[in-house]
Amino acid sequence: MKFPEKSRNAEELLAEMKNFQANDLKWREGKNGSFVYFAGDDVLNVVSTAYTEYFLTNGLSPLSFPSIKKMEAEVISMTANLLNGDENVVGNMTSGGTESIFMSLKTARDRARDLYPQIKEPNIVVPSSIHPAFDKACHYLNIKLIKVPVGKDLRADSELMKNSVNENTILIAASAPNYPHGVIDPIEDLASFAKEKNILFHVDACLGGFLLPFIKRLGYNVPNFDFSIEGVTSISADVHKYGYGPRGTSVILYKNSDIRKYQYFICTDWSGGLYGSPTFAGSRAGAAIAGAWAVINYLGVEGYTKKADIIMKTTRKFIDGINSIDTLEILGKPDASIFSFHSKELDIYMIGQEMSKKDWSLDNLQLPTSTSFNGYSSS
Ligand SMILES: Cc1ncc(COP(=O)(O)O)c(C=O)c1O
Repeated sequence: MKFPEKSRNAEELLAEMKNFQANDLKWREGKNGSFVYFAGDDVLNVVSTAYTEYFLTNGLSPLSFPSIKKMEAEVISMTANLLNGDENVVGNMTSGGTESIFMSLKTARDRARDLYPQIKEPNIVVPSSIHPAFDKACHYLNIKLIKVPVGKDLRADSELMKNSVNENTILIAASAPNYPHGVIDPIEDLASFAKEKNILFHVDACLGGFLLPFIKRLGYNVPNFDFSIEGVTSISADVHKYGYGPRGTSVILYKNSDIRKYQYFICTDWSGGLYGSPTFAGSRAGAAIAGAWAVINYLGVEGYTKKADIIMKTTRKFIDGINSIDTLEILGKPDASIFSFHSKELDIYMIGQEMSKKDWSLDNLQLPTSTSFNGYSSS
C-alpha cells in the first residue's frame, strides 16, 4: 500500500475504521477467554477518559510530567500494599507481563554478575507450565532455562524443582496462578527453599495479582503467594488483566531497592546527554499509567471484590456445567477463574472449533491436549 498522498475527511475515515472491527473478537458478549478484560461500561468510560486526558504524555521524563510520575508511584505503592509488601518494596510500571518478567530476569542476571562473578552460565528453574515470557526473556538475556515437569495436580513439583537447582541457579520462579490450568504453584514451600539457598524467587502473578487478593477476601481458599512469604523477592502483576486497566500496564515489584538497582539502565556518554531508563521501554505511554491509576482508584477494594464475586460464581457455573457432561473433564483443581478441560473420547480441538462458530473463543492447550477458558468474561 502506498503512503497516502492526500489528507482525508476525519468522519469518513473513522467510520471506515469502525467497520474494520466486523470480524474481531466479540468481547462485549463475554465469550472470550483471555484477550480482553472488559469490566463494564462504567469502568471502560473512566479508563478511556483518563487515557484520553493524558494521551500525548510521555512517561520517559518524570521531570516533564510530574503528574505521570505521581500516578506511577501511586500505582506501584498501591499494588505493593495489595500484595502485602512492606515499606521497602519498590517497583516500576511496564508495558505488560512479558516486560515485567523480562525486567525481573535481567535484574537477577545483572545482580549475579555483580555478586557472584564465579557464575559463568546462569540458570533459572521454573515449572513447565510457566508462561513463555520466561523462555523469551532467557533467550534474549542468555540465561539457561531449566524447565521442570509439573506434578499430577498440574502444580510445580516442589521436590523436582529443588533437585534441579544447582550452583549456577540465580532465580526460581512459579505462577499464581498459571495460564494453562489456573492452578497456583506451591510458592510458600519453594520460596522458603530459595531463601535458604540465598536464591531470588519470582512470583508470576501477572494473572492473579489483581484477582487472588479479592477472592481471598471473599473467603475462598487462596494459599499465600505474595510478599507475606519471606523468600519472595519479586512479583509481576498485570493491571491490564484483572486490574481492568488499559492494554500496556503491568507492575514489577521487588522486595527492596538493593535488588531493584540492577534493573536500571544508564548511558553516560551519549551526545544527546545523560540517558537513563528504569525498564525496557524508552518513551512510555503516560496515558496507560493514567488509565491504571484511574481504574484502581475507581474500583478500590470494594469494586474489585464485587467483580471477583461475580467472576467466581460465573466460573463455578461453567465448571459445574462441564462436570455434568460425561465426556468432558476439568483438569486439576483450578484456584481462580481460569480452568481447562479435556475429553478422553472426543476431539477437544473440534469442540473448540465448533464453539468458535458460535463466537466462543477457547484456548487450545497441549501436553495434555485440552482447552481452556477464563470464567471472568461472561460475568
Ligand atoms: C501467568 C502469565 N504470565 C505472563 C503473561 C504475559 O503477559 P503479557 O501478555 O501481558 O505480556 C501472561 C499472559 O497471559 C500470563 O497469563
